[in-house]
Amino acid sequence: MNIIEVLNYEEMSTRAFKLIRERLQSNPALKLGLATGSTPIGTYKALIQSYEEGEISFEKVLSFNLDEYVGLEVTDVNSYRYFMEENLFKHIDIKKENTFVPTGKAKDFVKECAAYEELIAKSGGVDVQILGIGSNGHIGFNEPETSFNSLTHVVDLDKRTIEANSRFFHSINEVPNQAVTMGIGTIMKSKEIILLISGDNKNEAINQLLSGEITETFPASVLHQHPNVTVIINQESYLT
Ligand code: PGA
Repeated sequence: MNIIEVLNYEEMSTRAFKLIRERLQSNPALKLGLATGSTPIGTYKALIQSYEEGEISFEKVLSFNLDEYVGLEVTDVNSYRYFMEENLFKHIDIKKENTFVPTGKAKDFVKECAAYEELIAKSGGVDVQILGIGSNGHIGFNEPETSFNSLTHVVDLDKRTIEANSRFFHSINEVPNQAVTMGIGTIMKSKEIILLISGDNKNEAINQLLSGEITETFPASVLHQHPNVTVIINQESYLT
């Protein structure tokens, strides 16, 4: 695990952006795993600017998002499909049909989850997966005690996750209590992982990750078992 500590959010975003730019320039048909939340927004802004300046293109890129809330329409401002359109897709030349976000509306989630898993596998697998981390150590929406072997599945969200994400909703009661997420096993199949850590209440999670202990009670700890992980930590997170 390659750990990089930087002074602030901007520097974290720039470091992540430069890594992704490099991967994109050497492989224009990159399979990119994407995350939502506050953490990657700066990285997405830098990628958009780089695209506008003609440095990179997403024309051949396939993207796979980590997760989606159960029950939200794609047009819902809180859906992750909507988030991705607003914060990245509509600003770049990625083809809409090449962007994949798990569906939050399905009659048969078991089938949909298996199909998502197969879609990723058939594409050849994710080359670079961007991750954030929850204050409870979740990656994607894989909450504590999720099996390290899990594949794409429906999860009940942890109380801490619902509280943390309620900031985007009018009230905490509106936060869906379930989501669809790539499993930990799915994430671990990515060839490379970039974990970005920034934000309130992440101090404990950082310390736990850096302790090196590997346990299913702290999902991000699995990343110690992956051969190609870069962790970029915004040191300001230690202050909250
Ligand atoms: P955040 O969320 O980037 O909004 O802090 C990260 C996560 O919950 O995985």
